[in-house]
Amino acid sequence: MKVQIIYCHPSQKSYTYEILGQLKSNLIQENLEFEVSDLYAMNFKTDMSEDEYEREGFVNLNLSIPDDVKNEHQKIEKSDCLIFVYPVWWSDCPAKLKGWFDRVYSVGYSYGYDESDNNTQKMKTVPYGIALCTAGHPNEFLNEIGIAESMRNVMIDDRLGKRFIKKEMIILGGTLNKENVKHKHMEIINGIGKKIKEYCA
Ligand SMILES: Cc1cc2nc3c(=O)[nH]c(=O)nc-3n(C[C@H](O)[C@H](O)[C@H](O)COP(=O)(O)O)c2cc1C
Repeated sequence: MKVQIIYCHPSQKSYTYEILGQLKSNLIQENLEFEVSDLYAMNFKTDMSEDEYEREGFVNLNLSIPDDVKNEHQKIEKSDCLIFVYPVWWSDCPAKLKGWFDRVYSVGYSYGYDESDNNTQKMKTVPYGIALCTAGHPNEFLNEIGIAESMRNVMIDDRLGKRFIKKEMIILGGTLNKENVKHKHMEIINGIGKKIKEYCA
């Protein structure tokens, strides 16, 4: 069983980095094999090139898929679970992670290009996908103003979509007062490995 973490934060001094550390400890404790794609450390290219756009926009499959994108495809194909770890920035993921979706979800891989869509979509159906984000606002406030729901709609219903069987959005809110929420957040993280094992077994 293989877990792929797609991590997106520029600083090791961040709370999100601490969350990543706790998640790694939990996966080790549960004997789960995992790999981290640290998008900033990898200097993952965020912007689509003109050729990449033309491949997508005009479904020009003669244009090649860049190697860095192919690498990400291979990681997905080897995974039973993908966990996206990131901070909420302006009610969404950071631009670098958005760029990962723009580029890695290429036509003919994560979505099809003819009427019977599925025949031209090669990406495996991944058993489990988790969006794990930290947020400055408390969860209650994000629920009240509808932002939690819109983040869930975009991340879970659209980006993870039918490409994943079980999907979960975990919002670790209230980080403006870290000391009040840290204990609860760590408890949530400490339950993740067990859930993956139970579901993917
Ligand atoms: C550019 C930027 C935009 C942010 N936008 C939001 C937001 O829309 N909603 C929210 O709850 N918190 C927002 N925050 C707060 C982060 O979610 C918070 O800093 C993060 O959860 C934890 O901090 P970390 O950067 O130490 O990991 C924002 C922070 C930054 C730097």
